[in-house]
Amino acid sequence: MLKIAVLVSGGGTNLQAIIDSIEDGRIRNTEIVGVISNNAGAYALERARAAGIEALCISPKQYESRELFNDALLEGVNKLDPDLVVLAGFLVAIPPKMVAAYPDRIINIHPSLIPSFCGKGFYGLKVHEAALARGVKVTGATVHYVDEGTDTGRIIFQKPVEVLDGDTPELLQRRVMEQAEWIILPKAIDMIANGSVSR
Ligand code: GRF
Repeated sequence: MLKIAVLVSGGGTNLQAIIDSIEDGRIRNTEIVGVISNNAGAYALERARAAGIEALCISPKQYESRELFNDALLEGVNKLDPDLVVLAGFLVAIPPKMVAAYPDRIINIHPSLIPSFCGKGFYGLKVHEAALARGVKVTGATVHYVDEGTDTGRIIFQKPVEVLDGDTPELLQRRVMEQAEWIILPKAIDMIANGSVSR
């Protein structure tokens, strides 16, 4: 049984996709041992509680320094004793000491086809604004391992999504979530849980 800790910051639609996929068998041999958010108001925490999953907030606002927050975040994750840490719309930089503690055991979903529209400053709607500004005809989502960089780790899965005439950033974000993120993140977890993707 793969134990996963899911880190979230916002609405939690990717978390919900994981919860639903475990429920309906698309993700096998996996248990969510806890959900952690940096944002006390994240609806993702409500989604976790509704599913009976331990949900806690570890916020930088609660700590004197970023260093103390980083230590608390790592301690919170360690307490859950996960095999895999899943970043599902988590908007806080992962501390280097956490990357070192979980080598090839942290994965992230990014809403573009890396290496396009990724790296520092590319998150949420900003990714889709940049894709529309560049005029790409195809975008998509990427699941990758987390290393010391930002969106630079080994790519596990990608899924393309068509950009349509008249797309707004909001419309494009929703399509990328529905047609890519909510499919490849659960798929990656299932493959890791069942040995089909090497760590
Ligand atoms: C969305 O921008 C999504 O594309 C990215 O993180 C943000 C929040 O996702 N992965 P979620 O609804 O909190 O999963």
